[in-house]
Amino acid sequence: MTKPEIEAGTKRWQALLEYHERSKHHVYRYAPGPGVLDWVNQPNPFREFSGAPQIKLSLTADTLGTQYNDIRCGKLPLPAHFNVNNLATLFELSLGLSAWKSYNGNRWALRCNPSSGNLHPTEGYLLCPPLEGLPAGVYHYLSRNHVLEQRTAIGDPQWAEAFAGRGILIGLTSIHWREAWKYGMRAWRYCQHDCGHAIAAVSYAAAALGWQTRLVLSAGDDETAGLLGLNRNEGMEPAASAELEAADALLWVGDPDTRPDLGRLLQALENRDRAEWRGRANLLSKAHVPWPDIDSIHHATYKPHTLYPREMHELAQTYPARIPPHASSAAGMSFSRIARQRRSAISFDGITHIPAPTFFSMLECLIADHSAPPWNSLGSSQTMVHPVFLVHRITGLKPGLYIFLRNPAILQDMKRAMRADWLWQKTGPDHLPLYLLLAHDLRDAAKLICCHQGIAADSCFALGMLAQFSIIENEPWRYRHLFWECGMLGQMLYLEAEAAGIRATGIGCFFDDEMHALLGINDHSWQSLYHFTMGGPTEDSRLLTLPPYGAGT
Ligand SMILES: Cc1cc2nc3c(=O)[nH]c(=O)nc-3n(C[C@H](O)[C@H](O)[C@H](O)COP(=O)(O)O)c2cc1C
Repeated sequence: MTKPEIEAGTKRWQALLEYHERSKHHVYRYAPGPGVLDWVNQPNPFREFSGAPQIKLSLTADTLGTQYNDIRCGKLPLPAHFNVNNLATLFELSLGLSAWKSYNGNRWALRCNPSSGNLHPTEGYLLCPPLEGLPAGVYHYLSRNHVLEQRTAIGDPQWAEAFAGRGILIGLTSIHWREAWKYGMRAWRYCQHDCGHAIAAVSYAAAALGWQTRLVLSAGDDETAGLLGLNRNEGMEPAASAELEAADALLWVGDPDTRPDLGRLLQALENRDRAEWRGRANLLSKAHVPWPDIDSIHHATYKPHTLYPREMHELAQTYPARIPPHASSAAGMSFSRIARQRRSAISFDGITHIPAPTFFSMLECLIADHSAPPWNSLGSSQTMVHPVFLVHRITGLKPGLYIFLRNPAILQDMKRAMRADWLWQKTGPDHLPLYLLLAHDLRDAAKLICCHQGIAADSCFALGMLAQFSIIENEPWRYRHLFWECGMLGQMLYLEAEAAGIRATGIGCFFDDEMHALLGINDHSWQSLYHFTMGGPTEDSRLLTLPPYGAGT
């Protein structure tokens, strides 16, 4: 590396640390936010490209027989054909609407993927070769109507050839403003969590169709933006101000041993007339508040094109060797039912207990397996996130603080990073690296750490997700991946909660350093990036639930 490159890298790392520290919530000082909510400028949750041809997708998820328990064990059905109807199912069960809720004259949509504040910064795109019922091209998915908006159609044979095998690409982007409107500076973190949830949601739905998913690790942000048409002014510029989308992730859904040739795909797009991009992006809010800290972290975590040989030659390496998870109590439930009934609990009853074997079966799913969703989408990437549980109500486990090491090789490192007097008492089945650190009633601590939210104390357990910060210093873009891995872990736990007959909630609002203080972490080697909780839900009977599509919408 040249001296200027080293200096630029150091600056990016410093900008990252500055953002990370300033976007922390503290007991006596929340991260900078808007203060008052400007309801008139609440961003439209649906991006659409007016003037783009629309392809109406069928609603066929009900006909998909795949059982949830099979895919969580990595038993995928035979791969379905890549055609418009099966892609309709992929979108319906990942980024599609799951219901409309209404109360007091207000109506809002829920989706299969959750989102902080239900603001949904994540947008989904499809890039495909010519398929039955779908011309080759770039499409934007509009979940409100379950349609694909054709941004551009591509006849160039080099486009189809570049897909090199059976498969399609899913692109994910974030509109930071959607979250920043409500959460200010910390919003960028939530956009990344949501992206992780979306990656997992896609990988589960793809698995239900027999398809493997892989994050295209080599893709740089400019390549992703170019492929999705994000940097084409005529598409994003109705009144020269439609909110920009940040390129997040490209997912290859298809043959796991091949990858599309991104260079050739880009070339096929560059050869074209700019006017061949269709549709104009809608403006989501009339006025905007700038958040320079978000711009700063966006630039600091810019991802260049990177070469990862292991992306092509995946190592069959898991930590530890994974045994198929024990069947959950929902062994007979279809994946489509679980995906669409997933909801966040608003509150918990404070009495429901789950049996320890149910909890252990969830932990089994947390061990990375490169053929089972959601971890298959990360290929052989290193596991960087480890949950710390604050157990309140699990029959057969003492209430207390536990850590689950998804990679047991980090045991010594983790011991050094935390309080010296933790018990580190191995607990549960032999194959699960679960350790009791402290037996204690932690309900008050959980509530306090999670910004005084009762859901962290009234549940069966709450957890924080410890991410390995030390390994991202040389590649600051991996900061985004840490949040994504947390979001994926969250999505997995959301589905596991439904399967166990209880409910979960993601927790983005927590006092970061209160959690670190509890654990005895006093440097940046490990940081808690996302919290979560699971328990017996109480329902709000005032809310009316309407179907996602068709009648009543
Ligand atoms: C990243 C993230 C952070 C969240 N943080 C909180 C939180 O701090 N408190 C809470 O009650 N819900 C939280 N939620 C739950 C959202 O409010 C919920 O996902 C959203 O309202 C949509 O509802 P649904 O999950 O039922 O589809 C969070 C969800 C996500 C994905």
